[in-house]
Amino acid sequence: MEHEVLDSHWERAAGVDDVAEGEVTGVRAGGRPIALYRVEGEVYATHDICSHEHAHLSEGYLEGCEIECPLHQARFDIRTGLATCRPATQAVAVYPVRIVGKDILVKVQATP
Ligand code: FES
Repeated sequence: MEHEVLDSHWERAAGVDDVAEGEVTGVRAGGRPIALYRVEGEVYATHDICSHEHAHLSEGYLEGCEIECPLHQARFDIRTGLATCRPATQAVAVYPVRIVGKDILVKVQATP
């Protein structure tokens, strides 16, 4: 298990208790800013920086499966990363999530 995690760029992002239901938390994993969300028990991860300008989505407002950027109120679907409301038009990256024991792992690709 340990080798699989390391070989495929799975990084520990947080403990399972660090992300409360209906909330978003900003962390760093694999050298990247990542926003972790928990909605109806499922944990999701997106890039933490808005695709419009430089704002942290983890400081925004989570409503259902949409995160609203705190700066200009663009919205993104946290399951797909797609922008659902202007002014953002570009998606944000989403990262696969795995729960292993008490840890939240995210799959972060190595930077080329
Ligand atoms: S920085 Fe996020 S909407 Fe402008």
